[in-house]
Amino acid sequence: MTLENIKLDVDYARSKFPAFKDELSKDWIFCENAGGSYVPENVINRLNKFMTSTKVQPYAEYAMSKIAGEQMDSAIELFANMINAQKNEILIGGSTSINLYVLSNALKSLIKSGDEVIVTNQDHEANISPWRRLEEVGAKIVEWKINSINGELEIETLEKLLNKKTKILALTHCSNIVGSINNLKKITKIAHTFNTIVIGDGVSYAPHGFPDVKELDVDFYTFSLYKTYGPHLGLLYGKESILKNLPNQNHEFLKGQYPYTLNPGGPNHEELASIIGIFEYMLEIYDHHFQNKELNILEKIKNINYLISKHEEFIANPILEFLHENKNVNLIGKNIIKEKNRAPTIAFTVKDMQSEIIAKKLVEKNIATRNDNFYAWRCLKALGINTDDGVIRISLTHYNTIQEAEKIINTLDQIV
Ligand SMILES: Cc1ncc(COP(=O)(O)O)c(C=O)c1O
Repeated sequence: MTLENIKLDVDYARSKFPAFKDELSKDWIFCENAGGSYVPENVINRLNKFMTSTKVQPYAEYAMSKIAGEQMDSAIELFANMINAQKNEILIGGSTSINLYVLSNALKSLIKSGDEVIVTNQDHEANISPWRRLEEVGAKIVEWKINSINGELEIETLEKLLNKKTKILALTHCSNIVGSINNLKKITKIAHTFNTIVIGDGVSYAPHGFPDVKELDVDFYTFSLYKTYGPHLGLLYGKESILKNLPNQNHEFLKGQYPYTLNPGGPNHEELASIIGIFEYMLEIYDHHFQNKELNILEKIKNINYLISKHEEFIANPILEFLHENKNVNLIGKNIIKEKNRAPTIAFTVKDMQSEIIAKKLVEKNIATRNDNFYAWRCLKALGINTDDGVIRISLTHYNTIQEAEKIINTLDQIV
């Protein structure tokens, strides 16, 4: 069977997530995945096992400690393989917001007065405010503004902003409001002609398929593990060639021991070990659908990504079509997913109705969602949307079903 003919077995995927059987959550349509996803049993079991038998200080020679350390190292190595990085290019921190703040603090050392830093107004604030703070050390902050009609970041606009003084460009790989996937590979290539360091925020991208950071050639890339089926942690990738020259922000004696130099302290051990469960879950998905066991992890991930994208396209497009065709609805972003141009993160407002009221009505029908600005308040502002009431966001992922999509459409049809 060719890749195009294989369909995601969504029942199989769901069978791995205890939340779909849990008394409290089983009757809900969960569509707040862009806020934080459910976790598969593999992650829960790993966490439980670590807490039960290896919850000691890692890296000593006694068994419990040795295994604890091995699991933490293995978690990093597996994730490095999954995103095509080296293990000394991966840093695990409390969240993406923390990781980017810590990174901006380190990159301060590269900024001279008059250097320029480009931020967007499409991003979540986590990838804006740490870079705007570089103004304190003399950087000029330049904003790459979205097209206020369609919400898109246009490359032609960026090309007018980049110049030899541009030291940093921070942008999202996928907007958590507009849903569009920005062409990070092309943008990075253009920015590199000016020796600009590119920081990609993959928080809204990675849950729909792990990136290949070497193919993107981005200098730093971040995503939140709690949105990619894991515990509340953030992963930061940094190119070794840059990481190794950044100042040590950790204990003095750790000088030179990158990537540990970036973060002033280590990650949550048990949660780090539990992300092996994400890898295990992905492999189970692979083995359930594909025959060829010879592929390496990265190749397997690429096949899974394809499977997931096809399914997400299948379930999200009817909702996008419904919202697009309803004249009371202001759908934000593209109205169809085609060749991964967009994530199934669907935000909208409704004419003469508060988003808060609509979110409440959806919740009354057991559709788990909310209204908010989702910390992308600059994006909402640029689109002329009230940042307090915000948008309603239906964010799907691969374990959502077509039946759920149909119920969302029927419910919305009654409301709007
Ligand atoms: C696109 C995007 N970037 C960054 C963040 C911040 O992530 P964290 O909660 O891990 O700090 C979020 C969180 O919702 C997000 O959606």
